[in-house]
Amino acid sequence: MCSTGKPPRGLKICCGITTVLLITVIVVGLVLFLTVLKPRKPKITTQSVTLDSIKWVVIPVFHLNITLGIVVTVDNPNYGSFKYDNSTVFVTYRGIPAAQAPIQQDTIPARAKHDVGTTVVVVVDNFSSNPYFLVDLTSGSLNFSSTTSLHGKATVLKILKIKTTTFTTCDISVNVQAQNASSVCHSEAKYRL
Ligand SMILES: *[C@@H]1O[C@H](CO)[C@@H](O)[C@H](O)[C@H]1NC(C)=O
Ligand SMILES: *[C@@H]1O[C@H](CO)[C@@H](O)[C@H](O)[C@H]1NC(C)=O
Ligand SMILES: *[C@@H]1O[C@H](CO)[C@@H](O)[C@H](O)[C@H]1NC(C)=O
Ligand SMILES: *[C@@H]1O[C@H](CO)[C@@H](O)[C@H](O)[C@H]1NC(C)=O
Ligand SMILES: *[C@@H]1O[C@H](CO)[C@@H](O)[C@H](O)[C@H]1NC(C)=O
Repeated sequence: MCSTGKPPRGLKICCGITTVLLITVIVVGLVLFLTVLKPRKPKITTQSVTLDSIKWVVIPVFHLNITLGIVVTVDNPNYGSFKYDNSTVFVTYRGIPAAQAPIQQDTIPARAKHDVGTTVVVVVDNFSSNPYFLVDLTSGSLNFSSTTSLHGKATVLKILKIKTTTFTTCDISVNVQAQNASSVCHSEAKYRL
């Protein structure tokens, strides 16, 4: 076998086949990496705010609680799970902090959509002394803004990771008389490999 000079014909063929196989494996691996396994950015597809309830008492003292349901749908396009951390939704009224609520950490399975939501109770007593409050209340609509940031990590094959932070802000308009709410939301995301 180990003759000096020209390598034997059999060895040449064997080397050739090995090289071809190796190249094939590398190419297939590269294609898989670039298509299937490449970590992708999770997307926020929908956001909505609903008015769950308005409760008030006027006598003996004025109390008003507004309960809002805030939901964002996160779409995980990865062939791996997306895990996000505990977070908080902040609600402001005319720039003043009005309420906050926690979002529980969770994991979104591979290629799935998941509603991330929470319920925020705005205790209006906290800002009913605000000079704009009575004006807004008599006009029938109370406007709030909510901000949520979600930090998460998508992992494919335990080694390929992408970290993301998404910011969602919503302008919420609560119609006190009709007891409904409308919202306009906007999301943006930042990524790190
Ligand atoms: C508003 O919420 C606070 C705190 O959750 C509660 O103590 C209060 O009873 C509520 N008021 C009304 C009118 O529901
Ligand atoms: C997230 O919140 C839950 C419940 O509030 C808590 O048990 C858990 O330790 C928190 N996780 C982190 C990483 O802070
Ligand atoms: C609003 O008032 C409630 C109870 O009166 C209090 O627990 C809560 O921390 C207050 N929220 C803010 C943002 O000041
Ligand atoms: C509240 O929001 C609604 C809808 O975005 C808008 O028409 C209205 O003028 C706003 N009211 C105030 C007091 O800013
Ligand atoms: C809220 O109710 C009013 C009156 O019923 C209606 O005109 C408006 O379209 C409703 N808004 C939403 C967001 O459902």
